[in-house]
Amino acid sequence: MSSRRFPENFTWGVATASYQIEGAVAEDGRLPSIWDTFSHTPGKVVGGDTGDVACDHYHRWPQDLDLIADLGIPSYRFSVAWPRVMPDGRNVNQAGVDFYKELVDGLLARGIMPLMTLYHWDLPQALEDEGGWRKRDVVGRFTDYALVLGKELGDRVPAITTLNEPWCSAYLGHASGEHAPGLNEDRLAYPVAHHLNLAHGRAVTALRGVLPAAAQMSVTLNLQHVVPASDTEADLAAARHVDAIANRIFLDPMLRGSYPDDLLAGTAHLTDWSFVRAGDLEEIRAPLDFLGVNYYMPSVVGADPAGRRLPGTDRAFGIETESRRTIMGWPIDPSGLRDLLLRVHHDYGIPTMVTENGMADHDVAVDGRVHDDARIDYIHGHLGAVLDAVAAGADVRGYFEWTLLDNFEWAWGYDKRFGLVHVDFDDQARTVKDSARWYADVAARNALPDELPGVSGSR
Ligand code: FCB
Repeated sequence: MSSRRFPENFTWGVATASYQIEGAVAEDGRLPSIWDTFSHTPGKVVGGDTGDVACDHYHRWPQDLDLIADLGIPSYRFSVAWPRVMPDGRNVNQAGVDFYKELVDGLLARGIMPLMTLYHWDLPQALEDEGGWRKRDVVGRFTDYALVLGKELGDRVPAITTLNEPWCSAYLGHASGEHAPGLNEDRLAYPVAHHLNLAHGRAVTALRGVLPAAAQMSVTLNLQHVVPASDTEADLAAARHVDAIANRIFLDPMLRGSYPDDLLAGTAHLTDWSFVRAGDLEEIRAPLDFLGVNYYMPSVVGADPAGRRLPGTDRAFGIETESRRTIMGWPIDPSGLRDLLLRVHHDYGIPTMVTENGMADHDVAVDGRVHDDARIDYIHGHLGAVLDAVAAGADVRGYFEWTLLDNFEWAWGYDKRFGLVHVDFDDQARTVKDSARWYADVAARNALPDELPGVSGSR
């Protein structure tokens, strides 16, 4: 069977996030995060699900790391729970630090390369009570937290990501209210985005001071592949506006040291941006080694107010189009990933790593197997898009499939199964899905077969 090769030294991995898998929310000194509060608020999460137990990974991590090792997947992207390491947002809880030390040592002992995310949305509730990301003070708290991890784990973690998807924290957390802390005012998204940007930049600079010279620093953005609904002037303007509020609001300050003029002008009726102080933009533009890109779907955007209201703006709307979709309702279109990777390459010239990509389905385990052909098809298509971007010149350094285990899918609870490994949430049994074996094989060969396994009748 013919296949296409990935670049030499391409990083292959799987990703997870602390609140989605760990459980053990009140153990060893951990205090609540905004997601504990939010998930325990009636009506916020489908089915009233919470992360109280999740995949019980806090207790089962050795077996979970064995799964990665047995599959032969070389890298693992995980996130640290801030409320374990600094439960009140200020004081260090050594038991929390030690959990992650053991986890990282467990990875290294199995020959798995760790990529550590500092913030995947679980802000200590104590800091939210002081104003959370709306208040500038959080920047200092985040930097202190980053430094604790840098000093304690920096010698054994080759790559660190500051934030995961600050767009979600800013807009879903503060404008649409779909995520913790569940606030619902468009104007709040902008100071929150700025404080996230500043926390990122300040932490990168602080970490460089304590990490080994070879340490790789990054941030992960869920860049939106914005497609205008038509080529009318109004739809093109709407799409450009969404590109500003979703993409360039992070990319430009982090990689160029400025907020774009059209972002400031297009949000002037919501905010005066007076929270940006002299010197902030130089701090935000701390040099990075690569940019993490998470991609799931394209967004079709237009000026028609009959469309879906987008968080953080009254000037552009999401437009539904005919397309294949996953059970999340997310359209499937790998070409958006290719285009995004190329756009970052051309506009910003920074190497990229796909830090999340994957799909949810209603997977069922029968006799120790899960036949998830749709997921294999999805990953196959998106890996092809990565190769297309590489062929067109983009410097893409790796791919992390989302996710190792079926887990707590935020406001959607446990119903949406994204894992390469099935989890029975009654007894915590793990069942390796077909997609996990297929993906591990692609990673081992560093090459993507042209055909899917089912096509030749091998499944
Ligand atoms: C991303 C999140 C990740 C997961 C996937 C499906 O936005 O970073 O935690 O929920 O979506």
